[in-house]
Amino acid sequence: MLKRFSVSLEDGLLADFDEFIKRRQYTNRSEAIRDLIRKEFVQEEWGEDKEVIGVITLVYDHHQFQTLERINEIQHDHHQMINSATHVHMDHDNCLEILIVRGRASGVRELSNRLIALRGVKDGHLAMSSTAQGL
Ligand code: NI
Repeated sequence: MLKRFSVSLEDGLLADFDEFIKRRQYTNRSEAIRDLIRKEFVQEEWGEDKEVIGVITLVYDHHQFQTLERINEIQHDHHQMINSATHVHMDHDNCLEILIVRGRASGVRELSNRLIALRGVKDGHLAMSSTAQGL
């Protein structure tokens, strides 16, 4: 059920917020505020080492010595945490690996750091999301 409440904002802040809403293509202030609040809650889940979900993306050169093998080994070491793995052969040399990972925030972060730091990984990101328990 939706509940209404009113918010008081300074003129300038409200004008900036309305600009933000336009830029981000929100249809109304409520939806934008809901998302901002949820974003803070997701941050808290990660900060408090709760059960989270994340997406790790890795771009690497599969010709680089042992990069592919190391990526596979690390995934098998953490197979309980990895929900899915998608591999895209981007061009002759480069591969994109997308992993959906679920577990304690600290574990997900550690796994992500290990993969991104591997030699041969040219670009790596961890997108931090939520299992939606606290949203
Ligand atoms: Ni490939």
